[in-house]
Order: sequence, then structure tokens, then C-alpha cells
Amino acid sequence: MILCGHRGVASLAPENTLAGLREAHRLGLEWVEIDVQLTRDEQVVVIHDEKVNRCTNGKGWLRQYDRDELGRLDAGSWFDPAFSQERIPLLTDYLTLAATLGIRVNIELKLYPQDDAARLCRRVSEVIEQHGFDKDTLLFSSFEPDCLRQLQMLQPDIARALLVERIPYDWQTQLQQLNCTGLNCHHRHLTRVLAEAVKAAGYRLNCYTVNHTGKAATLAAWGVDMIFTDTPQDYLNAGWRPS
Ligand code: G3P
Ligand code: MG
Repeated sequence: MILCGHRGVASLAPENTLAGLREAHRLGLEWVEIDVQLTRDEQVVVIHDEKVNRCTNGKGWLRQYDRDELGRLDAGSWFDPAFSQERIPLLTDYLTLAATLGIRVNIELKLYPQDDAARLCRRVSEVIEQHGFDKDTLLFSSFEPDCLRQLQMLQPDIARALLVERIPYDWQTQLQQLNCTGLNCHHRHLTRVLAEAVKAAGYRLNCYTVNHTGKAATLAAWGVDMIFTDTPQDYLNAGWRPS
């Protein structure tokens, strides 16, 4: 089972920063997961929350910041003063470093209520096209089916996973309609029966956010392909391999 660093390696470096990506590389991970959104001037940036308060020294709604203003915020000191030079990365810079380090990236498109799916997906697609990132090293996911529909049209060659908390009763219909290759679900609601059904139908099955090796062992036995974890170092210390 693959260990995917959640938001980089969220327990060892500030989440969704280049420092986290470097940490993932140091640990030998093959995959990381990040969250992306748009600034006011339509730059794709790597950040989870719709406000900058929790993970920077700024305040307010991300969508009200231009990239330049955002780039001045300290995105590391909240985690540890040693990371005070970290900034909220542009997706371009994140993927450039990931390509250099040989790390694959699950790009989660975060769509908050006031956001526009078409706009976010168009800009993400433009970043990938403009910089010629290797499409085989990327995976898109989103809780918002409309994002997956848009991405299917814009970037049909990049794999897509439907992201859900609980697997819906009509999961197979949804995956077929969205032409997804996989399902990313919360581990809390997964059962052996459901996991085996998803795998038997030929889909990849990934679980978030699994920070206990015992739980992960159970998921591996059920056929789960990949887990998102904040603490990959615990797995590696226990003898797990990154993939
Ligand atoms: O993509 C898996 C996981 O990151 C989804 O939840 O809130 O951590 O982005 P969240
Ligand atoms: Mg995420």
C-alpha cells in the first residue's frame, strides 16, 4: 500500500508548503497530496482553508488576496519559527519542485461555496499545460463532482478520483459518469465489504487521513491502494515501505 504524504508531510513541516514537499522527499515518499484554490487575481495556490488565518500570519479570506499580497505572508511560523521563510506556494512552483524531486502529486481541488468550479479547473489546467508537467505523475481529486466533470473535458489524460467522506450508495454510477479511475474516502466509514466491492469493480481505492499504523494494516488487508497520512515517518519507522 502506498503512503501518500497528506498536505506534504503535515506533522513535520507546515502543511502545503515547499518545505513539506522536501520533507516527503527526504522520507522517500513517492506521493503527496495538496489542496489548491484561486487568489483574487486567479493564481492557483496551494492552501487548504478558505481563510489564511490558521496557516499564515495574515487574516481574512484567501479569495480577497492577490498573489503578491499573499506571497508576503509567513506560512511557516505558525508551525515552527524555523519555517518562517515558507510562503503559500504557487501550484507552478510546487509542481516544478515535485518534478525535480520525482514525487507524484494528488491535486485536490478545493471548492468553497463562493468559488467557481469552471474558473478553478481552467486555471489549474492552464498551469499544467503552460509548464508541460508530466500528466502521468498527477492525480486530480475533489469533493465537488462539477470539478471532476470540468477536468474530464480539460485534461482527459490526467487520472481523477471522486473524493467523499462516506461512500455513497450510488458510487459505481457516479464513478462511471465522471469517468474516474478511483475513489478517495475517509477511512472511518469504510467497511471490508465496501472496500472489496470497489476493488472488484476495478477502481483504485485511497483513504484519508490515516495516522495509525494498526488501522492502516487493516485497510491494506481490505485491498486499499493508498493512504493519506500526516505521519508517514511512523510507518517508515515501523518498517513499512513508501509504496
Ligand atoms: O484528499 C484527502 C484529504 O485531504 C481530504 O480532506 O480536508 O484534508 O483536504 P482535507
Ligand atoms: Mg486535501
